[in-house]
Amino acid sequence: DVAEKGGYPDFMMKEIHEQPRVIRDTLSGRLADGRLSIDELDLTHEELNLIDRVYVIACGTSYHAGLIAKNLIEGWARIPCEVEVASEFRYRNPIITPTTLVVAVSQSGETADTLAAIRDARVKGAKVFGITNVVGSPVARESDGVIYTKANKEIAVASTKSFLGQVVSLTLLALLLAQVKGKFKTNQVRLLFRELADTAEQVEHILSDTAAIDEAACACKDAKSALFVGRGMGAAIANEGALKLKEISYLHAEAYPAGEMKHGPIALIDEGFPVIAVATKSPVYDKLVSNLQEAKARGAMVVAVATEGDEDIRAHADHVIYIPKVRDAFSAITASVPLQLFARAIAIERGCDVDQPRNLAKSVTVE
Ligand code: G6P
Repeated sequence: DVAEKGGYPDFMMKEIHEQPRVIRDTLSGRLADGRLSIDELDLTHEELNLIDRVYVIACGTSYHAGLIAKNLIEGWARIPCEVEVASEFRYRNPIITPTTLVVAVSQSGETADTLAAIRDARVKGAKVFGITNVVGSPVARESDGVIYTKANKEIAVASTKSFLGQVVSLTLLALLLAQVKGKFKTNQVRLLFRELADTAEQVEHILSDTAAIDEAACACKDAKSALFVGRGMGAAIANEGALKLKEISYLHAEAYPAGEMKHGPIALIDEGFPVIAVATKSPVYDKLVSNLQEAKARGAMVVAVATEGDEDIRAHADHVIYIPKVRDAFSAITASVPLQLFARAIAIERGCDVDQPRNLAKSVTVE
């Protein structure tokens, strides 16, 4: 058992530490002469260029990878993109045409609702692209093309390294769509790809010193509830932060776009209520800081994940977790890692089994 965990106390910790490798392996061989190659997509340049709508369909953590992808697919490729949980998608009547691309994201490749959504979308004429961690899984077999996330087997029930592999794969897909649609020149693609690859080292750096994360976790461990907030990319990242925490620590957590706080969750805030903010530098940073001021004025204990060098944030947060500066588009890759460690540290403090949380299964093959 100890050998299997590679010297780490649990599989979750081992898998969190594998993430730099997952980023590298997922990107390996993807760029040649400034052109991205995702040959598995099995669509011609012409077919790709015709895509005018994207649906990302998934469940759980994989759904959150989709929320991040939406920002990139719309922001870079300028293609309308909707993200939907598979159990909703399959029971409504989504608008699907032959120029719709459905991207099904599933670590296990066997989630019942996601599979049903794939089948339905194909019957309606969509091209379906799978992103999965399991070679030869039903999602891989039943899609028109597939990207493997190269996370290798994930044992902890709460997904970490697969999530990062999904985000990186979806980032590649968004980059490819942007290139095909003529939004990026070769040099831009090269630059973005290099910065994307650099996140492996940045994640290594985050993993090398977790003192601030542990300290923040210790301060939050006895809370009954926590609110995760962010704006833009940060709002998408906050969702995964909250899910990780509730999955493994049984502490109630919910994520909210920070600007929406005043329409409800601010009522929850009183002395010491934890508000965890994705506060990295982004075009909406100042707006987020205003929301943190509102939370602090009501007694919240603010934990901010912020960009290294940002000293100003200290005035608005009780605990600051610094991470390396990256382009906003790549912030999910870096900012998610401290939130995984934060959730794990709280769960450990609360005496929970982080690898096998109660009531949860690694893959959900029945509806
Ligand atoms: C279960 C797992 C989650 C996972 C979700 C979707 O709920 O516990 O970690 O995110 O299923 O699974 P999939 O394999 O389709 O990504």
